[in-house]
Amino acid sequence: MDLKSLLASYKQRTEQQLQALLAPTSIDPILQQAMHYALLNGGKRIRPTLVYLVNQLLDGDLEKADPAACALEAIHSYSLVHDDLPAMDDDALRRGKPTCHIQYDEATAILAGDALQTLAFELVSQPDYPLPASIKLQMVHKLALAAGDKGMVAGQSFDVRHEGQMLNLEQLQQMHRHKTGALLSVAIELGALSAEHTDNSTLHALRQYGEAIGLAFQVKDDILDIEGDTETLGKPQGSDLAANKPTYPALLGLAGAKQKLEQLRQDAHQALDCFGPDAAALRALADYIAMRNH
Ligand code: IPE
Ligand code: IPE
Ligand code: MG
Ligand code: MG
Ligand code: MG
Repeated sequence: MDLKSLLASYKQRTEQQLQALLAPTSIDPILQQAMHYALLNGGKRIRPTLVYLVNQLLDGDLEKADPAACALEAIHSYSLVHDDLPAMDDDALRRGKPTCHIQYDEATAILAGDALQTLAFELVSQPDYPLPASIKLQMVHKLALAAGDKGMVAGQSFDVRHEGQMLNLEQLQQMHRHKTGALLSVAIELGALSAEHTDNSTLHALRQYGEAIGLAFQVKDDILDIEGDTETLGKPQGSDLAANKPTYPALLGLAGAKQKLEQLRQDAHQALDCFGPDAAALRALADYIAMRNH
């Protein structure tokens, strides 16, 4: 299978897994509809794909990666629902459709986000997930660290608190590492755990790769806010500029941001040298992250 088809097949696998997740069991069907709306609306599924790719690189069973992959996408989707709220980025378009609080209402969007977050922990801790309890506990712990006040939420908080302010490069990098890098990095950790892999030297190389693509991902997101178009992006182009957000292009200029992105793409490739041809798909994912148009 060529690399493009391989990445597409993991995206498709994610969609199928997510579809099966939201059985209508809640006493409030509107909440469930809103969760479904936020989760199954055409995301790129990069974080689950990363879980699957690392699982396969480390000779894991794909089935054992499914709950972890879905958990990552549930946390990510919740973060997008909350990111778009009026109190945060106040955006009306997400993945080409009205944002969750526009389609439903703010209270429903907040609650759907909350429920998607706890769904993630439900998934990785479920009793019939066929992994040792110690591995599942590590998944829960790593996911909590990456999603909360030591990871994504801290980055988001720093972001909204610094609207209109000029950050230095170190601060900007820290913000990006938290708000975007943390979830991408933990996708790698969960991929390795799903393969019951704990060898530190292998993980060190993968962590370096994760660090590079995590930062690259948000640098590219910032560039797309300037260069993309709303229709292709599926979210409003120019949203960062309008809110005077601290971004890479704001600090380094567009050309400087692109240079940084290319450097990070090369760093990601370099980190994978020790795996040889086995890591071709992870290299292709790094290229996709740097070259995507949405
Ligand atoms: C967008 O993430 C938000 C950031 C972390 C920059 P994605 O670009 O992965 O969004 P989807 O999931 O494909 O919609
Ligand atoms: C959000 O970053 C990152 C999250 C943790 C959701 P952005 O605010 O740049 O994401 P977009 O551009 O709205 O997707
Ligand atoms: Mg934001
Ligand atoms: Mg936003
Ligand atoms: Mg953005």
